Amino acid sequence: DDLEVQLSTDSQDAEYLCLAAERLRSSDIPVAFPTETVYGLGADATRSSAVKGIYKAKQRPSDNPLIVHFGSLQQLRALLSSKPFADTQVNGHAENLDTDPIPEIYRPLIAKFWPGPLTIILPNPKNSPLAPEVTAGLSTFGARMPKHALALALIKLANVPIAAPSANASTKPSPTAAEHVAYDLGGRIETIIDGGPCDVGMESTVVDGLSNPPLILRPGGISIEQLRTCPGWEKTEIGYKNVAELGSQPRAPGMKYRHYSPKAPVVLFETGTPPPSADELSKFVESNGRIGFVRTKTWIFNFADHGRPVSRIVAKSDKSITSEHVRSDLNGFACLVEALNSDRYPTNNVEKFSLSLSGSQVQVIDIALGTDIADIARGTFAALRELDKQNVSTIVVEGIDDAEGGTAAAVMNRLRKAAEIQISS
Ligand code: TXA
Ligand code: MG
Repeated sequence: DDLEVQLSTDSQDAEYLCLAAERLRSSDIPVAFPTETVYGLGADATRSSAVKGIYKAKQRPSDNPLIVHFGSLQQLRALLSSKPFADTQVNGHAENLDTDPIPEIYRPLIAKFWPGPLTIILPNPKNSPLAPEVTAGLSTFGARMPKHALALALIKLANVPIAAPSANASTKPSPTAAEHVAYDLGGRIETIIDGGPCDVGMESTVVDGLSNPPLILRPGGISIEQLRTCPGWEKTEIGYKNVAELGSQPRAPGMKYRHYSPKAPVVLFETGTPPPSADELSKFVESNGRIGFVRTKTWIFNFADHGRPVSRIVAKSDKSITSEHVRSDLNGFACLVEALNSDRYPTNNVEKFSLSLSGSQVQVIDIALGTDIADIARGTFAALRELDKQNVSTIVVEGIDDAEGGTAAAVMNRLRKAAEIQISS
């Protein structure tokens, strides 16, 4: 059942990975690493001082529990039994299911979706080796086995469970490339393992199978339809809200707890809403300002009426960002490992136009994510970050139908949380 990671020990990459694993074991400065969902900011989940380092680097409130990443089922079972798990051979069988500490409800999910973008909520055992900072006072913890060779190799080398939130600065969009991590956390951490752009681009689905019916606490890389095909999960319900939660601190009226948010306010047009007219647009942008667009399924722009493209900027097509670019961007970081999947960078088509709105010129930065849900999920966070870099004053996003399946529900959940303004027809 466990995925075996083969490491050739004489490569430069293996040397970097070993160094990163050593830092995880001994340092209190967290290590950023790639997963198939988003980049994680990892620390030894059994050492309080190391876990505190995560909250410090992210500037994240410590009342938010962290997901614990495992490299093998044996490692998870050992934690649940709170004693080293002997690889028992019972009558020639590799394991005795009667003594398996993993609750039965989760076994079909683990068999089907691990390693992969699914986090399960488990009871934290008495005498748990997990640092209390991981669970933020809860009696449960989230566990996941990432599907990324570098993540699995790192966890195995470190030989401890790794607590890791997404490796963004608190409130910012999650990082889906090593350069995003460097941008947010440069100066705060020392180590980034560069695995190239993330395949899924949205965080893992968090499920609670300890409640009846089972609940999805956060939509993500595994859809409700996929979950419902598993025995015991047919009646899975949605247990999350699609709106930004209010912070625990009293805040100015109308101010939301920001999450997944770029600097510029996001105006989210729900699916089926036509693109804004020039009149509507001028409400969102000052004269001589810059406005960003993230287009998905149906919006097609014809700027011929308004002006001509003034220039075409960074086309982040598959091949344009290579590990070499990332390497030079990340100069100064200790651990860089060859990008494994640099051909998976979203084929963002970024264009710049000049547009005349009520007599004044406005710069439009236009990103088309394509129409495929997986491409949209992979490119959403990167697009929000790109528009921030382009210093737009507003980001207008074309939403998708969250009932479409796949990662559509995750994409819309993140966009609604990021949005200052939501518009529906
Ligand atoms: O894909 C992912 O899950 C990424 C990568 C790095 O693995 N990690 C990630 O972690 O997104 P973070 O910290 O940004 O989100 C953790 C989520 C939060 O929604 C948190 O509330 C929930 O998991 N969570 C963690 N422990 C929990 C628990 N005991 N009960 C309920 N929810 C929990
Ligand atoms: Mg996060």
